[in-house]
Parts: sequence; C-alpha cells; structure tokens
Amino acid sequence: MPIANSHKMILAIETSCDDSAVALLDMQGNVLTSQISSQTELHEKYGGIVPELASRKHLTTLPLLIRYVLGEFDIRLQDLQAVAVTYAPGLIGSLLVGVSYAKSLAWLAGVPLIPVDHLEGHLLAPFLDHKDLRFPYMGLIASGGHTHLVIANGLNDYKLIGKTIDDAAGEAYDKVAKMLGFQYPGGPIIEKLAGECEKPTIEFPIPLKGKKTLNFSFSGLKTAVRNKAIEGDLYVEKKELISYDDFAKWPESDKKDRVRDIAASFQQVVVKIIVQRFEKALKQYPMKDIVLTGGVASNTGIREGLQALAQKRQKRFFFPDSKNCTDNAAMIGYTALQYFGDRRFIREDHLRMNASSKSPIGQLVVST
Ligand code: KG4
Ligand code: ZN
Repeated sequence: MPIANSHKMILAIETSCDDSAVALLDMQGNVLTSQISSQTELHEKYGGIVPELASRKHLTTLPLLIRYVLGEFDIRLQDLQAVAVTYAPGLIGSLLVGVSYAKSLAWLAGVPLIPVDHLEGHLLAPFLDHKDLRFPYMGLIASGGHTHLVIANGLNDYKLIGKTIDDAAGEAYDKVAKMLGFQYPGGPIIEKLAGECEKPTIEFPIPLKGKKTLNFSFSGLKTAVRNKAIEGDLYVEKKELISYDDFAKWPESDKKDRVRDIAASFQQVVVKIIVQRFEKALKQYPMKDIVLTGGVASNTGIREGLQALAQKRQKRFFFPDSKNCTDNAAMIGYTALQYFGDRRFIREDHLRMNASSKSPIGQLVVST
C-alpha cells in the first residue's frame, strides 16, 4: 500500500521485553501500522520470560518485522524523519537488540534517533485513542514489571506518588496463574477464569490495609493464594503448564469451579487494591482525569472498578485500546513525536546513547 512521498514519518521500535514491535506514525501522531511479533509461544511453557531466549529471538525477528513494515507501505529510508526506540527499562539484552538496530537505521537514513522511556510510552499511550485527554492527570502504569502511580503534569514532567514494594500487578497475575498450572502470560487467563465464577467465595487479605501509604504490595496476596491452592490441592509445582483452552476441555467438576473461584477471588482483591489506591491518591491530588495503562489495563474487571470510581468522584477515566495496553511500538513512536518537535529538549549525539535496565521515572522519589 504505497503512500505519498510527501508524507514524512517516524519509525518506532520496541524490544524491551518479550515482544518485538515496530510501528509507523505520520508526523501528526496518526498510526499507519503497529505490528507485534509475540514470543509467547517461546516462553509460555516456562511460566515466565527467559531473558536469554528473548534477546536471541529479537535478533532474528526485528529485521524481518522492519522489512515487512517498510515494504507494506513502500517506505524508503529517505521517507523517514526520525527513528524512535525504547532504551529503558527492561531486559538489557532485549533492549540492546532494538537500540543497536535503531542506531544503525537512523545513521543510514541520516535522521535523529529518539530514545524513549518505555514507562513514559505506557503513560502517554491513552493519547493514541483519546484526543480529549489533557495533562495533568493521575496515571497508573500496571504491567508485568511495574506498578507506578504517577502524576503526569506534562511531557517529561512526572511525579511518582506510589509504587509496588514487591511484585508488580501483572507479575502477581502471572505467578497466581503459574501456581494454578497455567502458562505465561497469566493475566488474560485469570481474567477469563474469573469471568466464569459468578460469586467469588474466598476472602483474601487486602495488603497494606489501613496504612497511610500510596504504595502497592502484592506478595502477601500471592502467598495467601498459594496457601489456599495448596489447601485445596490445586497447587501445581513444576508440572507441564496448560493453556486456557486446555482447561476449557476439562469436564465440568468441583475442582474446575474451585480453580475459577480462586481466580475470581484474587481478581476481586486486585480490583479493590487499585480502586482504593486511586481513591486515596485523589484525596491528596485532586486531578480531573485518571488513567489506567500497561498490560494489566486490558483487564475488564479493573476497568469497571475504576469506571465506577470515576463516576462516583466525577472524574474522567481513560485507558488505551487493548492493543495499546500491552507492549507496542505505537506508544513509543507517539512519545518520541512529542519530543521531536519540542525545542526544550536538545538531543544528544545518538551514536553515543545507551540502553538501560532502569527508567528515570522509576528512579523518582516517592513522596509519601
Ligand atoms: O505492558 P506489558 O505488555 O509488558 C510489560 O511492560 O511488562 O504487560 C504484560 C503484563 C503481564 O504480566 C500480563 O499477565 C498482564 O500484563 N496482562 C493482564 C491482562 N493482559 C495482560 N493482566 C490482567 N488482566 C489482563 N487481561
Ligand atoms: Zn510494558
């Protein structure tokens, strides 16, 4: 599908974790294409990501994906105005593949390379789908690696007001799924199981209950789920992990219902934790708009919980389309574009830039 040459564009690359992603955006921020090559099949049997396998896979997938994306729109290097790449945070081996490739491409094309913080990408992702979202807002980045509650005042102006003190929200979903015998990623599976349980019966404890903090904690909840699974003889250790489709084929039984009950009871607490944190944070920081983003933002139960809170407190609630919740390159391209046209940000020599496993946003001091 060739497009007019006068349409300059930005190519964005994302390889921070287990997905190779490439997107093309025009200079107005419209996404022309956003492609993801998932590595799920490679990692699912291990119940989590194997970093060494992830970086090796990026090395073979990324060039093919870029060739496909450029070919699909008949784009030549001279049509590119800039190259954007996730430089942090993530698995360092995976990041290095994307950064090295992006450097070479930008150098060959003779265009600037714009390094993007993956967390900032997630935080700005709702702008891709909601043109009426405005700074400032309160955003929760809930993914497999992070649970960061942030006041987003403007581009490059973020205040971290709470974060997890142990596991990330997505990590908790993945670990609970694994202990029940399910493959990675566990979030979507737990959500499906929870949807099949009409009335969850288990009262799991709410972590950090009664504490003043805006931080999160999921490891105590995870232990409570493990204990319940062991008690009910549902705990699976080092066995072959199954998919949701495998589970669906089980004949209906009490055991099947008890697995669903654990999933639904767990999810019910996660929704409570997230809704209560927003509620508490909004008292301290009375923002008009709230945002949920990152892989966990695909979860309908959590979205509904926050929608109800927003209605109660008369706030506007935004979340990205599901394809823009989980890792993708469109959010990286969008974020890069915001920096591209802004003269406040002087770009360093991009041949010197490096990848980093840590995000500057993650390094901000939590103020409570
Ligand atoms: O943002 P993301 O794609 O990658 C990271 O930056 O980590 O998030 C992946 C995480 C995984 O832990 C996955 O289980 C979780 O997001 N996730 C979900 C759902 N879809 C993905 N968690 C709960 N419910 C979902 N529907
Ligand atoms: Zn992510």
